[in-house]
Amino acid sequence: MQLDDLYRRVIMDHYKNPRNRGKFEDGGLTVDLNNPTCGDRISLQLKVEDGIVKDARFTGEGCSISMSSASMMTEAVKGRTYEEAMDLANRFSCLMKGEPADFEDYEDIEALSGVNKFPARIKCATLAWNALKKGIHEES
Ligand code: FES
Repeated sequence: MQLDDLYRRVIMDHYKNPRNRGKFEDGGLTVDLNNPTCGDRISLQLKVEDGIVKDARFTGEGCSISMSSASMMTEAVKGRTYEEAMDLANRFSCLMKGEPADFEDYEDIEALSGVNKFPARIKCATLAWNALKKGIHEES
């Protein structure tokens, strides 16, 4: 199987079987964001205890790239401090610029590396990550 096919499968798996989709019944740090170019939106919730992201959920409507990226991000961010979460988000920004970025800690994210060749889709892929950054900025 070619790498592109593998990456496509990983993306579609997260799109069709999203991890962490839903809302916490008792709330949490909530960030709502939309993609101004298409109007698609995400609502991200984080459960933070002692400065560590214990859990994450998201809802929203969007294309396969935006929703799979949200699924991956919410998996990858669990158990991280704000600083570590920001480092993860910064690495994702590098990936979107076509710069080297290491995701040994959650390799599924590398499936989105091809997005950098399609500038219009970068906003899709970064929607959830921008929500994460916004949430961290508001809290710190
Ligand atoms: Fe709207 Fe991708 S087309 S987020």
